Amino acid sequence: MLGAGWRALRRCSSLPRAVRLRVREALGLRDPVGEVKVQGWVRSVRSQKEVLFLHINDGSSLESLQVVADPSLENRDLTFGSAVEVQGKLVKSPHRKQNMELKAETIRVVGPCDTWSFPLKMKERHPLEYVRQFPHLRCRNNTLGSLLRIRSEATAAIHSFFQDNGYMHIHTPIITSNDCEGAGELFQIEKSNEVKESAEKTHFFNVPAFLTVSGQLHLEVMAGAFTHVFTFGPTFRAENSQSRRHLAEFYMVEAELSFTESLQDIMQVIEDLFKTTTSTVLSKCPRDVELFHKYIAPAQKDRLEQVLKNKFVTISYNEAVEILKQASQTFTFKPEWGCDLQKEHEKYLVQHCGEVPVFVVNYPYDLKPFYMRDNEDGPQHTVAAVDLLVPGIGELCGGSLREERLPFLESRLQRLGLTDAYQWYLDLRKFGSVPHGGFGMGFERYLQYLLGVDNIKDVIPFPRFSHSCLL
Ligand code: 4AD
Ligand code: MG
Repeated sequence: MLGAGWRALRRCSSLPRAVRLRVREALGLRDPVGEVKVQGWVRSVRSQKEVLFLHINDGSSLESLQVVADPSLENRDLTFGSAVEVQGKLVKSPHRKQNMELKAETIRVVGPCDTWSFPLKMKERHPLEYVRQFPHLRCRNNTLGSLLRIRSEATAAIHSFFQDNGYMHIHTPIITSNDCEGAGELFQIEKSNEVKESAEKTHFFNVPAFLTVSGQLHLEVMAGAFTHVFTFGPTFRAENSQSRRHLAEFYMVEAELSFTESLQDIMQVIEDLFKTTTSTVLSKCPRDVELFHKYIAPAQKDRLEQVLKNKFVTISYNEAVEILKQASQTFTFKPEWGCDLQKEHEKYLVQHCGEVPVFVVNYPYDLKPFYMRDNEDGPQHTVAAVDLLVPGIGELCGGSLREERLPFLESRLQRLGLTDAYQWYLDLRKFGSVPHGGFGMGFERYLQYLLGVDNIKDVIPFPRFSHSCLL
């Protein structure tokens, strides 16, 4: 994928002035071209008697561009980490590993770097734990660079998947007054300098307002007019969980499908989304993904290839509990029908099914939020819910059919004392209600699984509100 610089090169064969090229564009060329200019940061400097070698990286690819220069161009500011602009001729490289190299005519140090205090060191493979201490500098490290390119490609691939399949993208609100999941894990929004005079005055919007935990309820509104909708945005949970799978702010991909009576349809979209996005990322950034599969999670590549070839396994919650009860392993939380699946249970189930993604369907009614559809297999026994569990992570997606029948929804909301708050939601069941359903996928957990990354803080651009930093 070549950009503006490359197009400019093709337009003007006579090259009156140096054309600015990205490193990725320069490395992708097959034939020598005239004067070019490359800007980036120095990844290595090697000075020999006859020649000076530099490697320049500008974030456009994992690979850096080799610059060959006369030792007279060396200067004391030309160090690892410095920002430079190099002008010269792009020529065929004699080295097997790269197509092209830049024969420098001028090297300008735009921004020097004090290598002594710069926490990243030349030619060192810094562990993820080490670079996590420098959230403002870690994007200059190869691993985080690759992660951020993959994250960007995966975002685009997810949008393409939905657009290609006829879904409409909806910007659901970040500030909302409802708690979709009903779990009370909400961050409340208030003006910072509000003087608390009376109860009403304490609320900026006159009612309590929160950062969204999910765009689902707003998507359901849209699913009353558009049969296929999706959203992909930030969501917030005040879970106070310092685990390697939880963030206070994370991105969620959510879809809602109208005229859908079967959980199978929802599961098919989840599986297609996972497989299409993964194949796209693997083919669009093979070198970046390879870095993770080589140094961070060596067995992940083969496992993913198998996962892409095979259909995901499905078991019911009932079967899951039976499998757990028959396990020779003793669990900290004893598996019982009606209890939530714990991390240790999810891990066992995935192992039991052969370390592949596993859909668990039809959970107990009392375990799940108010909007899930009663299966009517007993008095409030199970709901048409689905969780997708994946190896090493646990729950990657959660979804369900929604309760579209007014009397069922009314009585459930009444029991929960939520009738007034959800009048608008009940309205949706009065005016052209249709069977519908949807799901949400945690984007960071998806990246963790794709790349085999253990700590969720290593797949986000900024380790936001983690213990050590508030960027
Ligand atoms: O299972 P959850 O809570 O489902 C919902 O919010 C539904 N309303 C979605 C829908 O049906 N439209 O969250 C969905 C996914 C989880 O499976 C998990 O991958 C991720 O969001 N997730 C988190 N990821 C990182 N940090 C957290 N604190 C997360 N909480 C949930
Ligand atoms: Mg869930």
